[in-house]
Amino acid sequence: MAEKKLTVPQIAAMKSKGEKIVMVTAYDYTFARLFDAAGVDVLLVGDSLGMVVQGRKNTLGVTMDHMIYHSHCVAKGAARAHVVCDLPFLSYQASKEDAIRVSGAALKKGRAEAVKMEGGEEIAETIRAVVDLGIPVMGHVGLMPQRVQQMGGYKIQGRGKDAAKKVLRDAKAVAQAGAYAMVLEGIPLELAKQVTKEVGVPTIGIGSGRHCDGQVLVCYDLLGMFEDIAPKFVKKFADLKTVIQSAVGGYVAQVRSGEFPDLQHSFSEQKS
Ligand code: KIV
Repeated sequence: MAEKKLTVPQIAAMKSKGEKIVMVTAYDYTFARLFDAAGVDVLLVGDSLGMVVQGRKNTLGVTMDHMIYHSHCVAKGAARAHVVCDLPFLSYQASKEDAIRVSGAALKKGRAEAVKMEGGEEIAETIRAVVDLGIPVMGHVGLMPQRVQQMGGYKIQGRGKDAAKKVLRDAKAVAQAGAYAMVLEGIPLELAKQVTKEVGVPTIGIGSGRHCDGQVLVCYDLLGMFEDIAPKFVKKFADLKTVIQSAVGGYVAQVRSGEFPDLQHSFSEQKS
């Protein structure tokens, strides 16, 4: 029997039930299927694909067409997991109309079930406009990678009284605007605990400690495949870099030596 899809109300209800939400990024069909089968609740088609898939320095060059392409691939591999498509830099910030148009495209063409937007108080009305049309929105506050130029790098946010108050105001504004969940990125764990207690919707942390309602990591980071940057919060749950290099190294050696392909992996006139 086909797996039942996790819905937005079910994800929102996990907070009150005290069930941790497990989110991971995915960018293609094969990884999406593996993560779905492993029990991941939410597959985030993150604009981090600009860095880990496209090899850019940051996420700013990612377009909506890139997001739709990858979201469509991921959606095909998600039997149970809920699929969220990130909205890339400047696709939604300039006007509510832009936000509605690209959010609709994420669902219609990208086959996602929700969109994610970075921003706090300043995008609350935009979130409201999209949610009012029936498109679920996941917020993203704290460290917002699309503001890397303004921050002067990927810096922890919300340290100190005023900065903490700003993150809390942003989180409350996003929740009040109708977001069904939000990512808390790169904030102190004490602040993440307070936000998680004070907002009614689930918080999903990355680099924000253990008190969030769920966690998200970039898949290539948790699998030990991406080493261009190595943030303190990343835990490697595997060393796939070594596994892949050793497997492909074995292939290289066997092709060069003529060991591969042997008769077992070849066809002959006689069917066997
Ligand atoms: O783009 C992304 O992968 C993200 C997560 C790191 C939260 O936004």
